[in-house]
Amino acid sequence: MWMLEADNVSKTYSNSKGAVITKALNGIDLKVEKGEFVGVMGPSGSGKTTLLNVIATIDSMTSGEIFINGAQPHDLNKRELAKFRRTELGFVFQNFNLLDTLTIGENMLLPLTLEGVPVNVMKHKQREIAEILGISQILDKRTYEVSGGQAQRAAIGRAIIHSPSIVLADEPTGNLDSKSSQTVMETLQKINLEKQATIMMVTHDPFAASYCDRVIFIKDGELYNQIYKGDNRSAFYQEIINVLSMLGGSTHDLSAIRP
Ligand SMILES: Nc1ncnc2c1ncn2[C@@H]1O[C@H](COP(=O)(O)OP(=O)(O)OP(=O)(O)O)[C@@H](O)[C@H]1O
Ligand SMILES: [Mg+2]
Repeated sequence: MWMLEADNVSKTYSNSKGAVITKALNGIDLKVEKGEFVGVMGPSGSGKTTLLNVIATIDSMTSGEIFINGAQPHDLNKRELAKFRRTELGFVFQNFNLLDTLTIGENMLLPLTLEGVPVNVMKHKQREIAEILGISQILDKRTYEVSGGQAQRAAIGRAIIHSPSIVLADEPTGNLDSKSSQTVMETLQKINLEKQATIMMVTHDPFAASYCDRVIFIKDGELYNQIYKGDNRSAFYQEIINVLSMLGGSTHDLSAIRP
């Protein structure tokens, strides 16, 4: 069974009269295995965030089917869906979305707190994950006392601590300098390898994308191409740049390129 399966997924935005104004996704087919780390790239407006939001059930789809770990979240009622999101999904956002009133450690624990997990189990998990993320020393700090890279690693901890079926990340390095981006990508890779986390990450940054096992490229709401990493990350980085240059798109998409 696939961890994620999207069959012929389409999403159109209509105006108030019901006329289609944008075809954001057009017949997307996608299968992701457990433990895969998949990158999603493409020009601005190509449908990347829409795809992630439809998978995350934040957004509805116009047609098609989505299975996550065998379930069809879009068929659930409101209460079941809330539970599904809390237990089966993990989210990482560009702006971290940590709660300022909580410590870094408390932020990480949120998904478990919400499920009423016993305190000793929570503490154990927190220690284990913080160790992998390299943030054991800052668990008692406030969100405004840590760097962007540390905040994002804490957010990754929160996204993973309840062992969700899939972690969805939209531009997780979008607000970070290159050194912090590298640390965050190494962290995501470590979580992927050591916890067999299934991760789907939207990014404009070919350097970030080069940490993925596979990168899919979207153009005008359709699957344009996909490439797999061999055992050489810098060769993969170069391949990603090549596909991006074939894809075209705005200069914004290439602005993140660095040697
Ligand atoms: N709520 C909405 N109503 C109408 N059109 C929308 C809405 N959200 C997105 N769109 C349109 O759908 C298309 C895909 O948008 P989406 O946000 O998925 O692009 P993206 O690939 O994430 O772009 P970026 O790289 O700039 O974040 C765009 O043409 C966009 O204008
Ligand atoms: Mg987007």
